[in-house]
Parts: sequence; structure tokens; C-alpha cells
Amino acid sequence: MYEKEVIEIEHLIKKQNRWRNKCINLIASENVVSRRVRFMAGSDFAHRYAEGHPGERYYRGTSYIDDIENQLKTNLKILFECDHSEVRPISGTNANEAFFSRFVKPGDVVMVNSTPAGGHISHHREGSLGKFTRNIIDIPLSEDGYHMDVDKTTYLIEKARPKLIVLGKSLFLFPEPVTEIADVCQKYNTKIMFDAAHVLGLIAGKQFQRPLLEGAYLMTASTHKTFFGSQRGIILSNMEEDQWRKIDRGAFPGSSSNHHLDTLAQMAICAYEFMEFGEQYAEDTINNAKALAAELDRHGFDVQGKAFGYTETHQVAVNVREFRGGEKVSKTLEINDIILNMNMLPHEPLKNHDRPDGIRIGVQEMTRVGMGEEEMGRIAELIKECIKDKKTVKEEVNRFRSEYQDVHYSYDVIKQDDQQPIILAELKN
Ligand SMILES: Cc1ncc(COP(=O)(O)O)c(C=O)c1O
Repeated sequence: MYEKEVIEIEHLIKKQNRWRNKCINLIASENVVSRRVRFMAGSDFAHRYAEGHPGERYYRGTSYIDDIENQLKTNLKILFECDHSEVRPISGTNANEAFFSRFVKPGDVVMVNSTPAGGHISHHREGSLGKFTRNIIDIPLSEDGYHMDVDKTTYLIEKARPKLIVLGKSLFLFPEPVTEIADVCQKYNTKIMFDAAHVLGLIAGKQFQRPLLEGAYLMTASTHKTFFGSQRGIILSNMEEDQWRKIDRGAFPGSSSNHHLDTLAQMAICAYEFMEFGEQYAEDTINNAKALAAELDRHGFDVQGKAFGYTETHQVAVNVREFRGGEKVSKTLEINDIILNMNMLPHEPLKNHDRPDGIRIGVQEMTRVGMGEEEMGRIAELIKECIKDKKTVKEEVNRFRSEYQDVHYSYDVIKQDDQQPIILAELKN
């Protein structure tokens, strides 16, 4: 009865596949998985359940996923040099909720980055954190808006004695001063949570700060922005065993029951890819972001963070108010197959959230498909032609992108001893 509708959905999926493959994708929270990982989607694991921990499941039939999950947990501990890894949250928000639900009690004071400062919705009253306490206060910022004001924050910690301070954000250009506030936090028993959703791959690739070594109590993240995927969440920590056991119960049974074994198996491959190729990838990504920022600046755009070298991450922020703001600019770019999102900037009032001044650009996906600094120059030019010169650049965008169709920093094509690449289809059986 509904076959026509099914076919229609299949068409939409195909259209999406073709379209985004022709686009310059600059959404800072996305990435692509390697072909090899994508090929594994839809395995038998997509049908299965495995509640609990490997070796202690509530269901039978889990021996293979137990092996995979154990390998993944061990590899994450190696990558992030920590004692504990929780891989069952199915997203970054789910990981945050797992922790908040076991740690934050009604009335507890928690300090966070505000929305204009780049804080994520899950850190706020309307999001996950707001379910557990309403006493949420903003971290003071320095004048440029992209850094914490450490003195004022220290003062506030002394006065308000928060139980938790949440660092890490969605608009994330520069490292957070974890080391600088670690002492005062320790003095008042304020725990530091570092939400590394955006910068997980930069941390794993050793090109960014190392929050757990600097004094963070735990780190949460989603796994598919600067890390290679798949789309999931993790919690990492060096906390004492008895405390970890509580957080662990936040993940299960707290915030999930089954944990989507199909994407878990994919992520286990991604972690190996990252162990081999991650350092180079993270370095190239940051260099690309700096190059794109400098070129946009050269074309006369108001690129944020200039006094600090624009960015230390995969992101670039631009104030496009003079071009009628982020909503208008992101829509114009989308018509031309350049995909990014509008974004509030730190100087803006909350009421601007649906018509903000800014756009946020992430270069991690285009880096993964093999683009370098020269290509960043071309992207800046195309944005300038589209927004400043009001030209239609769609055709040129599609032509340019057609040359970058492989996923680099992966084992997609492996050379064997005889130098014959293994074709992916041969992996199927
Ligand atoms: C700082 C931060 N934390 C958490 C999340 C949530 O991650 P997810 O989308 O995987 O739930 C995001 C998402 O973009 C984020 O930017």
C-alpha cells in the first residue's frame, strides 16, 4: 500500500547523497566517515541489543560486539591517556546527560559558557543541565568575547562555590584555560567538566590542549566532528573507581538501554583510523582553518579573533552583519551549494538567536576529503564572489568539489605486499 512512499524516500536519500557530495560542506559539527566505515553500516549488529558491559550483558549473542567494544574502550584510553572510557552514549548530548544525571543535584551551582559565548544547549536551563538544577551561571568573558576572564571567573568561583564548571563549547576558537583555574577549583572542590564535542579529534591528534592532563575531572564528547565518527558520544576520565561507577550507571541504565551496536562497530574502525592518521589530520585541519580565516580577512570579511591569530581549532567565525546577517548569508551560500550555519557571536543578546550576526565555518570535513591550504584560498574566493560580488557560483562550486571525492586519512585503499589495492567490495563477504 505504501510502496510508492517508500520509493519516494529512497529517492530522497539518493538525492541527499548526490547533493552533499557536490557541496562545499562547512558545518563545523559534521564530518564524513571513510568508505570503509560507511560500508560496514547495516551489519547484523544493526538488529541487536547488548545492554550492560562486555562480558556482563543482560542478553546472549553478544560475544563479537563484546570483543569490538573492548577494543574500542582500550584504544580510547590509549588515545586520550586516561583510565576510564564510556562508549555507550549514542550522542554528545546523551553523554552530557549521563554525567549530569548522576552528579548534579537540585540547587547545585554550575558555571557554564552562555549561548552567545558558544555554550551548547545541553549546558543550559532549557537543555539537559536544566533538568537537574536551575542554578546555572555564566562564565565571565574577556573583552574580545572568545576567552574566559580568568580573574573574574576565579572571583566568582570563590564567591559562588559552584559544584561544577562546564568548559568547552560549540563556537570554539581558542583553548579553555583549564590549567589556570585548576587550583582554585581544587580549593573549593569545583569539578571541571570539559565538553570536547567539537575538538575531540584535535585533542586525540595532539594538536590542542589536553584537558584531562590539565586538571579536568572528566571529558565528554560527540565523536563525529573533528574525530572520524561514527555519530556517537563518549565519556573519558581519570576519576576514582567508585566515582566512575556512578557515572557509568548514568550511561546505563541512566540515559540509554541498548546502545546502537551498528555504529559502535563502525566507531571501533574509526578509532584505529585515528590512531594511524589522526595527528596529521588534526594538524592539517587547524592549518586549513587558519588559512581560510586569513584569506577571508584579506577579502575584507570581519573574521573574528584576529588579534589572536583567528583560530586554534577547525572553526572560523565571521561577523556578516553588513551583509544582512548570518541567516541571510547562510541561505545565499546554500543556494550556491556552500553549506554552513548562522551563529550567534559573543557580543549579541540572546534575542538575536534566530537572526544572529555571525556565521560559523568548519574545515574538518573538507580537510578529510583532501583539501589543503590552497583549496581554502579557493573557498574564500567563492564565498567572496557569492556574498560580496553577488555572483552565482554554484556551478563552479560543484566543479571544484568534484575533484575531492575520496576520504583521506583512512584505509579506504590499502596497498598489499604486491601493491595491489584491496577493492572495498571484496570486503563484503
Ligand atoms: C559543545 C557541544 N556539546 C555537545 C554537543 C552535542 O552533541 P550531539 O549532537 O552529538 O548530541 C554539541 C553539538 O554540536 C556541542 O557543540
